[in-house]
Amino acid sequence: MNTMKAVRIHAYGGPEVLRYEEVLRPEPGPGEVLIRVHAAGVNPVDWKIREGYLKQMLHHSLPLIPGWDVSGVVAAMGPGAVRLKAGDEVYSRPDIARDGAYAEYIVVGETEVALKPKTIDHVHAAAIPLAALTAWQSLFDAAGLGAGQKVLIHAAAGGVGSFAVQLAKWKGAQVIGTASKGNHDFVRNLGADEAIDYQTTRFEDMVRDVDVVFDTIAGETQKRSWKVLKKGGILVSILGQPSAEEAAAHGVRQASVFVQPSAMQLDEIAKLVDSGKLRPIVETVLPLAEARRAQELSQTGHTRGKIVLRVV
Ligand SMILES: NC(=O)c1ccc[n+]([C@@H]2O[C@H](COP(=O)([O-])OP(=O)(O)OC[C@H]3O[C@@H](n4cnc5c(N)ncnc54)[C@H](OP(=O)(O)O)[C@@H]3O)[C@@H](O)[C@H]2O)c1
Repeated sequence: MNTMKAVRIHAYGGPEVLRYEEVLRPEPGPGEVLIRVHAAGVNPVDWKIREGYLKQMLHHSLPLIPGWDVSGVVAAMGPGAVRLKAGDEVYSRPDIARDGAYAEYIVVGETEVALKPKTIDHVHAAAIPLAALTAWQSLFDAAGLGAGQKVLIHAAAGGVGSFAVQLAKWKGAQVIGTASKGNHDFVRNLGADEAIDYQTTRFEDMVRDVDVVFDTIAGETQKRSWKVLKKGGILVSILGQPSAEEAAAHGVRQASVFVQPSAMQLDEIAKLVDSGKLRPIVETVLPLAEARRAQELSQTGHTRGKIVLRVV
């Protein structure tokens, strides 16, 4: 059978445009692998793309299968793909310009695929790639976070934040996270030294001389973050380019990160998971057919850890 079940959008819009339907199974081209999807992670970018917010940037053609986090098993190799073999258990943050993983099968460039952590199941592995790579590339590649430095992580209880807290702690940094009160024990258990309730407290009154601000919120939160940085510190945002003028006025640096696929970094992350130093937090698991509910939950902006769709 060359068809499969998938969730697609045929037009941009609200959650109702997500359709669970029978579609053609994709074929791997040169340098690509076909993955039997076992689980697909859900991220805010999925509903942002669905709403059409990123159409100027990403130029998708519709219909489109959303979902750029996958864990599954290699089903077939395209011509010239030699790094992996059929039966390998893998995970990936695939190319966001192409069809995603809300489906029984996905085709992914083999340079974007790594062997999944051995000690966790596919549901937990699918929660990792996009959010953990974002945290890794922001804290380590963009900010150069090192041992003994102080980092303020906004939305520390969310998908990206829950990895950022653990990765920063693993590096030996002093970690301060913002979250609502009900998430403070959770954030401390992940390794944060301090949790600030952003709903009742102005974080800029509590924090100073920070080496790195990790901005996962933008807007007012970003504007108020400049003053907590020490001179020469850096604000890294994952929601667009922060103002170079503001950075200069505060004597600090700024950077913007849009997460890139990386099999090499996923290999490093898998080692951390298998050695017990990093754990994905999965709050909700839903069947593929309930992708609409998953995106509605994600859109509330209050996910603790991750939401994952189970496909097998
Ligand atoms: N540039 C990139 O490559 C990239 C990659 C990944 C994500 N992103 C973007 O980064 C953002 C975060 O992604 P995510 O996956 O972590 O989202 P998420 O999992 O949906 O984040 C939910 C978390 O945000 C917290 N939160 C909400 N408002 C807050 C505030 N004002 N201050 C502090 N915490 C707050 C909530 O905590 P409480 O429930 O305690 O309020 C909740 O735990 C999204 O906009 C996403 O699109 C960008």
